[in-house]
Amino acid sequence: MKYFIHTYGCQMNIHDSEKIAGILENMGYVNCDDVSQADVAVFNTCCIRETAEKKIYGHLGALKKIKRDRPDMTVVVCGCMSQQDGVAEKIRESYPFVDVVLGTGNLNLLQQAIETAQNRKKFSNIEFLQYREEDFPQSRTSYPNAWVNINYGCNNFCTYCIVPYVRGRERSRPFGDVIAEVNKLLAEGYKEITLLGQNVNSYGHDLDGNVSFASLLREIGKSEGKFRLRFMTSHPKDLSDDVIDAISEYPNICNNIHLPVQSGSTEILRRMNRRYTRDDYLALIDKIYAKLPDAGITTDIMVGFPGETERDFEDTLDLVRRVKYSSAFCFVYSRRKGTPAYSMEDQIPYSVKKERITRLISCQNEVTKQISATMVGKRYEVLAEGANPSYPDTMCGRTESGRLVNFKYDASLTGRFVTVYIERASSATLWGSVVEEE
Ligand code: 5AD
Ligand code: SF4
Repeated sequence: MKYFIHTYGCQMNIHDSEKIAGILENMGYVNCDDVSQADVAVFNTCCIRETAEKKIYGHLGALKKIKRDRPDMTVVVCGCMSQQDGVAEKIRESYPFVDVVLGTGNLNLLQQAIETAQNRKKFSNIEFLQYREEDFPQSRTSYPNAWVNINYGCNNFCTYCIVPYVRGRERSRPFGDVIAEVNKLLAEGYKEITLLGQNVNSYGHDLDGNVSFASLLREIGKSEGKFRLRFMTSHPKDLSDDVIDAISEYPNICNNIHLPVQSGSTEILRRMNRRYTRDDYLALIDKIYAKLPDAGITTDIMVGFPGETERDFEDTLDLVRRVKYSSAFCFVYSRRKGTPAYSMEDQIPYSVKKERITRLISCQNEVTKQISATMVGKRYEVLAEGANPSYPDTMCGRTESGRLVNFKYDASLTGRFVTVYIERASSATLWGSVVEEE
């Protein structure tokens, strides 16, 4: 019996899919990459932008014929899209061959749902339930990295964003549970731990006792053995001095901070409900570079938010040049039903959004190229992650700051720390050779 999972969207979903795979493997299924051969096909969905949704509906549509040929196949739709208002009903009406609809807060029902569907009954439930990570047998696929959830949901309600509606209110995982999971993963040989949350910096606000994200970082940072600790995502309004200090105190906490700015215009930030100004953000960046001079700062930026003028957009370009991000995820604003920005006036025409995103990407590429050039001729410690499928006999890995490096070597180095001499750079990608092994 075989399962197939298609994961859309962010790291949170990638990690949820590891839990889904764990449940299915526990039920006796084995992984397969071909949906038409699967006994259970899972679509772990995303709805952050319309493009994601369109793609998923397209893939679901294509499944109709496969399911007609193989009626015993169980089709599961779960994740953020199914949690949205009205989507479970839409799937029931327009995609009647879907057997199971689950949301983001009840993955623990998956086995029961599949068993119900196999008795030729539909199962649809998008309730938020209380469950513990420890309830899931996880099937991890990202060695040497392991994802670890620390908090779920979001309370920020940025006016463009659907996440608070589909992932619910912020809930922190108990401190002791996170530490126990990290210790177990380190004992199993994982070399990199990435703490996950929509807003990791607000970790602990809802827990008893004096715990904070900084105290969690320090507790993990002092663990023995060589490993790297990463985390994402940080909201600029909550990134404390204490967190920056913790990163600088512990060599195994990476100086790599994903700090979405969204816009470089204070007026647009206000309308986005981001709760910081352009100057607040730039002051935070100065503070980070003062304590962590080699930090790799990455970001998310959006163009075409309602009311964005050419002047606002130029403020964004100016901020990108000042901050010197090592990379940036650039998005075109997408109207999401149910969010305040959906009904704001002055929606920006697509032609303008397109023109701005092109300019933004080329501006960031220029910045990345400049940073890459400064790295050529230097040595960096890199954690070898595995073969790079795009090039023969090539491995890839990351520097502490998060930059991707390619180097010739055989895949046996996976999970080892190596020193790489950077020989050349092609914009975003660095190429080097191993000069020292761990
Ligand atoms: N349109 C475009 N991009 C969005 N993001 C969130 N909501 C939207 C939207 N409605 C982007 C933000 C966020 C990232 C995960 O996705 O930049 O940081
Ligand atoms: Fe969305 Fe804002 Fe929450 Fe991030 S902080 S998930 S952008 S509402």
